[in-house]
This record gives sequence, structure tokens and C-alpha cells, in this order.
Amino acid sequence: MSIRIDDATRTFTLHTRNTTYQMHVDEYGYLLHLYYGTRSEGTMDYLPTYADRSGCCACPHDVANRTYSLDVLPQEFPFQGNGDLRSTLLQVRDGEGVFGCDLRYVRHEMRDGKYALPGLPAAYSDAADDTQTLSVTLADERIGLEVELLFGVLPDVDVITRAAIVKNVGTGRITVEKLQTACLDFVHGSFDVITFNGQHCMERKPSRQHVLPGSFSVGSRRGQSSHQYNPFMILCDRDATETAGRAWSMTFVYSGNFKAEVEQTQYQQIRMQMGLSDELFSYPLEGGEQLVAPEIIMTYSNAGLERLSHNLHRCIRKNVCRGEWRDAPRPVLVNSWEAHYFNFTGDELVRLAEKAADLGMDMLVMDDGWFGERHDDFRSLGDWTVNEEKLGGTLGQLIERINAAGVKFGIWVEPEMVNENSDLYRAHPDWALAVPGKAPALGRDQLVLDFSRAEVRKNIFDQLCAVLDQGNIEYLKWDFNRSIVDIYSHATADQGRVVYDYYLGLYDVLERLVQRYPHLLIEGCAAGGGRFDAGWFHYAPQFWTSDNTDGHDRMTIQYGSSFGYPCSVMGAHVSACPNEVNGRTVSLSARGLIAMSGGGFGYELDLLELPERACEIIRNQVQQFRDMERLVREGLYYRLSNPMTDDVYMWEFAAEDGSEAIVNSVIAKAEGYGEARYVVPRGLTPGALYREVNSDRVYAANALMDMGLPLPVSSALYMSRSYRFVRVDE
Ligand code: GLA
Repeated sequence: MSIRIDDATRTFTLHTRNTTYQMHVDEYGYLLHLYYGTRSEGTMDYLPTYADRSGCCACPHDVANRTYSLDVLPQEFPFQGNGDLRSTLLQVRDGEGVFGCDLRYVRHEMRDGKYALPGLPAAYSDAADDTQTLSVTLADERIGLEVELLFGVLPDVDVITRAAIVKNVGTGRITVEKLQTACLDFVHGSFDVITFNGQHCMERKPSRQHVLPGSFSVGSRRGQSSHQYNPFMILCDRDATETAGRAWSMTFVYSGNFKAEVEQTQYQQIRMQMGLSDELFSYPLEGGEQLVAPEIIMTYSNAGLERLSHNLHRCIRKNVCRGEWRDAPRPVLVNSWEAHYFNFTGDELVRLAEKAADLGMDMLVMDDGWFGERHDDFRSLGDWTVNEEKLGGTLGQLIERINAAGVKFGIWVEPEMVNENSDLYRAHPDWALAVPGKAPALGRDQLVLDFSRAEVRKNIFDQLCAVLDQGNIEYLKWDFNRSIVDIYSHATADQGRVVYDYYLGLYDVLERLVQRYPHLLIEGCAAGGGRFDAGWFHYAPQFWTSDNTDGHDRMTIQYGSSFGYPCSVMGAHVSACPNEVNGRTVSLSARGLIAMSGGGFGYELDLLELPERACEIIRNQVQQFRDMERLVREGLYYRLSNPMTDDVYMWEFAAEDGSEAIVNSVIAKAEGYGEARYVVPRGLTPGALYREVNSDRVYAANALMDMGLPLPVSSALYMSRSYRFVRVDE
């Protein structure tokens, strides 16, 4: 059993294989957090301290007790209104507009399996394991409010999930002004916080800093999880490294606005919390209505950041991603975007497909430019009708020609968007999010469709199906190229609910799409990695990691992304040099090795312009990817160096059972006749021998993991090496 409940002390203990999470209901009915750490038996109710706190707010149910204050006690679901003056998870107003509630325990329930959330993505388990759900309900009778806290225990991946459902069980209106999903309260600790920040074309650079007095937060008010701050945060010991120290993390399973915060309080306690952003948010609940706080995935490691990442990689691969592509090798593709942009003909695509087939690839993806009058980015979004003149025939005919050339066919769409210059907008201007009487802020000359409205979703879904039904389309790239700025829906008087309802709408469309097209491989994209989050991965197993395809920058982007997400979800392509975003030239072999370290591998350049030597290298790369893709998709990923600070980028994929490993390196900074560099692998079976496949030489795992393997000394910039070790079993 993963969940143990002691009814006498009202203590709930959640065990995963290596961790324990514990809480209890105290004498006043408040749900206190006791512990989240290394797996432990017993009750940790000695951890919260009770000293004279009369300088803080007392307990309203026992004002004489000067040692009790919710302002200092560790809690599971702190709320505004009863003395906790730290940053809380919930703020509500009643029908009179009055702030405040008082949530106390009323009941709990435990069940086997993992809870699902209505209309929202959530982790699941299809394995016959000890996955269990605990539901604890807190209530405020005065205003008719209940909050059901959901805890999912995924023991095999060392993950605890959290969600919360806020219910108006009274008759008057309650307005939710702030709703976050979960917090972790630490009674003491000296920590660093790590967030993953960036911009368009440079996403998820890790940034680590001390937690200091006050509050530190990142988040998004952009209507998308964003390029700027990823909805993933790590808290760790100040001396934690890849392989040592304690670390906790929160991952938001949601693609819209969020806020992640760490607060160090007056008594040096720490609160880490995550959930919906309270900006541009004010959600009304009439009697009988409810609001779901999207899921948070939490994990803990007492062995550094590497184990934390491994827990998350396993969880996202097996418990978040779904569908038949979850465990299947992905096609190696060529994408038309950086080869042709908007300017292509059907014949040119067929020639690209023939060349792709010749180089051993599996698929051609026709990117933007195939519909309406889409010759540039000023028009036609919303009109998903095939431009048959441009393609030289119907879409079905083009697909047949491409299939006949020997490759599968994929297509690009951006369904949430509309250009003012489109038939859809001319017919339904009120379907775009725009504030009446105010000129809307355009992004890439486009507006965002109001996906909170069922009729808008129906129109777009029907248009998409009409395209997908025209032929053998096996891959869909779903793009989203601007933020949500103008928040106004013609369908409601409560504009504070629109962005949240938009995401319920998006998930509704995605769910219907994956149900109707179970064989379709979907890749997300948001001007690159602007909506790269666990919410997305519930519907599609990969995301275009960044519009920056420069090999050098991609080392950092993929390195940063790997802290919270498995390589299997990263779309990564080899593009032309000098790179279109930063002008850099990186060797083709390094570009290939870096790109094939993402699960969605491919090429994004005009293959027909390549000299024969480059074609030979690419043929070998496609084969190399096929040889290593299972380890990329299912193996453990090791960050052997930090490309932001180290001269050599080194990384490794190893089988869970240690039977094989691929160790890669790329020289990121070269000095003439410089020092010898060594790559030191991890995750091999101690005491075992390994044969390196290319050289056929046998090495001792212990020596490799102690002193490593020298890289060639005359290291040219972007020289790459890939060593494949296979354990020599007796
Ligand atoms: C975005 C994507 C690109 C490409 C273009 C097409 O920028 O990130 O990969 O699909 O849109 O317009």
C-alpha cells in the first residue's frame, strides 16, 4: 500500500519507493504538512514547533493558545483569511465581495489508481502497480465552500501529484481571486532555487540563486506557459550537485498562465508553491459550480539533481505521455520550413521527399504556406483550405506522390489563430479575442481565436478534420505563434475566467483530436519552445524545442530542458549553416549528434543543395539515430558537463539496467594544442566490463567512472565523438 492512514492521529502517509510524504489534521482541524523527504517510517509530528507566537495571528478556534498560529505552521493548502499572512494558495470573495475563508478538515477517502481531472491533463498509470489516490476535503460552512485536495502516489517513479477542486456548495456567488495547486512548506532549510528561463530562440536556460528573505517568483501572464519562464521549479540544498544533495521539484501540468514562487519567511521557513497565475484571473462560481486547480507533479531526490531528473523523465514518458507513439520509434523527417519557408510548389516538395527517401529518412513535413492565400505571414490563418494551385493538385494527390517517393507525409497547422485578412475573420470578427473599441495588439500580424467558445472550437475542429481526412497524413505540427494579450470574450460577462476557459477549450479540442486520430503523431510548437510543458505532453509526445536550431545554442537549450523533461519529448532538427538565427557554423557531425539526442529527430534544410559528402554524412546519421533512438527514448540521461560553463559538452544515455550506454561529446571551446579532456561516464554497472563498439576495446566500468576516457587532444571546435559501450556479460 502506498498510502497509510492512522485514524487515531489523523495522519496520512504517502510512500513511494524512495520517498515519504506526510501530513496530519491537527486538533483544530487544520491540515498540517509534516514531511517530504527520504522514505521514512513513523510520524514526524514533532517537526512543527509551538512557541509563543503572540506576535502573529492566533488560532481563531482557541485564542487563548498563544503558541498556535497558522502564520508559522507548515500547511498543505494555506488560504487567505485565517492568519497565514505568507503567500497562500487560495483567495476567495463571497457574494458581498468580502475576502476570506476558513478551511478545515471534513472527510477523506482513499482509492486505488490515479485520479483524473475533468477537462484537464493529468498523470495516469496503466501499470499494475501500487498507484493510489488520496482525497482530503476541507470546508468552510459559513460561505459554502469546499476544497477537495487530491494526492496521487506513483510509487515506481517517486512522484506525488497534487490537484485541488474548489466547489461552491452554497447558494451565493463565490469569486476565486487566486488559486494555486500546491505548496511545500519547509520548517527550516538553506536552499537554492533553480528556474528555467529564456526568450524566443533561447528557451529554458537554468538559473540558480540563493533563496533569501522575501519572495522570488517566476510565471507567465502571456496566455501560454511561455519561452520566458518554464512552469517547472527546483528547490535544492545550496551545495546540491548533479549527484549529491537534496532536491525537490514542482512541474505544472498546464499550458497557460502560471506562477511559481519561493518565499523565505520571518522565521527562515521556506514555502515553495505553484499554480495558476492570479493576474488577469478572477473566477466566479455560482452555487453547485467548481473550479479545478491543474495538477502539479512533485518529486524528491536525496542524491542530487540527476536522480530528480530521472524521476521526472520516467514519469513524463510513462505517466504523462499517452497513445501509441509514447513507446514507438519516431520517424526521421525533413521539414520544409527552413528549406522553403512560404515558397514551395508541390513538385518541389516531391523532389525534397525523393531526396529524403534517398538519404534514408521516413517523412516529409509540409510546414506553413499550404492553405488559403498564405504566401507570407500576413494572411489566411483561420482558412484551412488547401491551395491546390500552389500544390499543383489536391492535397490527396500530393500525399500520394510523396508516399510514392518513399516517405510518409506530415502537415503544419496553427489552429488557435486567425489573421484579420481571412474569410473566417471577415465572417466572424467576434470570434477573435479583442477588446471592443480598442485596437488589438497584433503578434505576427495575427489574433488569437476565442477557444473558450464551443462554436469556435467546433468550426476549427471540423476544418482540421476536413484536412486530415484528405489523405494519409501521419504527423501534425500544431503551432501557436503569439501570446494572448487582449482578454475579452463575447461569450461571457466575467472576463477573469477567459484565459482559464480558453485552456479547457484547447484541451477539449486536443482530446477529441487524439481520440479521432489515434495513429497520428502530433508535435507541439509555439514559435519554438513557448508552450513546452507537461500539460501539452498529455496530448502529444513531443514539442519543437526551439526555433533556434544552431547546434551550439541547442546544447544549452536541450541541457536546460533535460532537468524537467525527458529527451524523448524534444523535437530537434539539423539545419543549414551559417545558422539563420545567429549566423554560427557548427560541424555537420556535431549538429547531427545534438539533434539525434532529441526524440523527434529530423532535418530542416534544403537537402537538394547539399554536396555529396554531406549527403553521405546524413545517411550515416540517420542510421546512427536508428541505432541509438531506443536509448534516447527510454534510457537514463546523464548531464556529464554544463555547456553554459564547460568547454566540452558531454552527455550520456544509459539503459536502466546498465547493459549499454552511449557517451557523447562536442568541443564547445577550442584552444590550439590545449589540455587533454576526459569524458567520465556514469550509470554503468560497477565492477562490470564494457566493450566500446567502434574500437572493440574492453574497459572496466569502475575505471571509466573514476578517471574517464580521453578525448582526442587536437580538438577542433565542434569536433564530436560518440562512444557506445555494451556490457560484457559472462
Ligand atoms: C513558427 C515555428 C516554425 C515554423 C513557422 C511557420 O515560427 O516555430 O518552426 O513552423 O512558425 O510559420
